Amino acid sequence: MNTIQLLDKKFALSISEEEILAAIDGVAQKMNADLKDENPLFVAILNGSFMFAADLMKRLDFPCQISFVKLASYHGTTSSNNVLELVGLNENLAGRTVVIVEDIVDSGLTMTKVIDLLKSRGAGKILISTLLFKPSALKHDVELHYVAKEIPNDFIVGYGLDYDGYGRNLKEIYTLCESGVER
Ligand code: IMP
Ligand code: MG
Repeated sequence: MNTIQLLDKKFALSISEEEILAAIDGVAQKMNADLKDENPLFVAILNGSFMFAADLMKRLDFPCQISFVKLASYHGTTSSNNVLELVGLNENLAGRTVVIVEDIVDSGLTMTKVIDLLKSRGAGKILISTLLFKPSALKHDVELHYVAKEIPNDFIVGYGLDYDGYGRNLKEIYTLCESGVER
């Protein structure tokens, strides 16, 4: 039976490892054609993107670098005044082609924030790659350049993505069962 339990919720297998890797092959092929003369810096957003970043990078055959960053929010002087920062990005971005590596684009809010932060650090061309994209959940105007797979607007875990910190280790992707209960 292809269902698993994480904490209080049940999840059913929805995307096999084979299907994930085939989708990443497609993105890598496109990048190998598009970016071979760009010397890009890949910026992988932790925690969720670690598996995607690893399998993607193994398939790239042009000169490139990667940095793993975390998006951190600090409380400003008022509650509406929170300061967002990219922690761990020490490279000089001036004029550099930067490829964001994200696990999933849902509303698109995270990507708009990351783009603003990269722009403020002087990045040149900014491209977005994401393993998963939920088109029907998108609320912010953000252009996605490399999408491995589009999925319905359901909550998923596995292959780096978590439910309350659990499930990141799964090599397949699982979808929350309706009402969270196994049928
Ligand atoms: P956005 O800012 O709404 O696009 O949300 C993006 C972030 O929300 C991702 O980087 C994930 O960390 C998280 N997220 C969105 N959908 C899911 C999901 O189905 N499972 C696990 N995490 C998710
Ligand atoms: Mg994320």
